[in-house]
Amino acid sequence: MNNNKTFTLGGDLTINRMGYGAMRITGKGVWGQPEHREEAINVLQALPAMGVNFIDTADSYGPNVSEELIAEALHPYPAGMVIGTKGGFMRTGPNEWHIDSQADHLKQALEGSLKRLRVNKIDLYQLHRIDPKVPFEKTLEFLKDAQRQGLIKHIGLSEVSITDIKKAREYVDIVSLQNKYSIVYRNWEPELKYCEQEGIAFIPWNPINAGNILYVEKLNEIAARHNATPQQVALSWLYHHSPNILLIPGTSKVAHLEENVKAVNVILTDSEMNELGSIGG
Ligand SMILES: NC(=O)c1ccc[n+]([C@@H]2O[C@H](COP(=O)([O-])OP(=O)(O)OC[C@H]3O[C@@H](n4cnc5c(N)ncnc54)[C@H](OP(=O)(O)O)[C@@H]3O)[C@@H](O)[C@H]2O)c1
Repeated sequence: MNNNKTFTLGGDLTINRMGYGAMRITGKGVWGQPEHREEAINVLQALPAMGVNFIDTADSYGPNVSEELIAEALHPYPAGMVIGTKGGFMRTGPNEWHIDSQADHLKQALEGSLKRLRVNKIDLYQLHRIDPKVPFEKTLEFLKDAQRQGLIKHIGLSEVSITDIKKAREYVDIVSLQNKYSIVYRNWEPELKYCEQEGIAFIPWNPINAGNILYVEKLNEIAARHNATPQQVALSWLYHHSPNILLIPGTSKVAHLEENVKAVNVILTDSEMNELGSIGG
């Protein structure tokens, strides 16, 4: 079982593998201000004391709201805080997402993220989606250029295959892959293995299936055995499944954040790891 607490992103940013996903500090449908703004700020301000020094966000969360709240709550950032953001979606309303990875859109998105996060350089800039309307080479050229200009430290991808990563690596170094993955959604297993082999971080989104995990009986059974919550067991399984996994559970509540961070202390037996590992399709 893997027990490394940290991962070094891109060879120089060492972060705790239990991070935080900042999509949930927005309004309904990932649109507008969060219902409980003060609690959202509290969540962000609680991160450093809990040892969380990796935050995942995107310009499209809100849009803008998540990045703005991060800066409001944490800037000037504590030493060692690493923020990954993303570009590549246009928003038109609650739950409305439109892929746009044309260079001029990404340029605007990146400039906006730098401003909102109040930084000169983005630690990790992730392409939110490959745009089927835009030749991938063009998007990669944009990212390469932005990195050359010093606006981006490291580059990551989201929702892509091994073939896509290999293509991207002809242009730039890829340090992370953010794909949907959890005990109930294992479709990207070959991509996870590839990332392990290549030293690329694998960042599962929806790590607790967007909160919809309680229907998994085995999870409830194992959680009861460990005096833990099913969410903690789902996170512990991911944490111990691969040393390249960085966790970014999303929450709008301090109590859930505390619970999620403690998931790393839930140690499952080999047979429990195997039982949970055989659930997902
Ligand atoms: N790359 C992409 O395309 C992509 C797509 C989606 C998300 N993401 C990123 O991945 C992060 C994680 O994904 P996610 O937020 O969609 O899903 P998630 O982490 O699987 O689940 C979040 C949901 O679970 C609830 N929750 C969290 N901790 C809980 C706990 N301990 N007990 C009970 N409920 C709990 C949250 O509600 P409460 O607010 O009530 O805690 C929220 O509704 C996002 O925040 C975002 O940064 C990336």
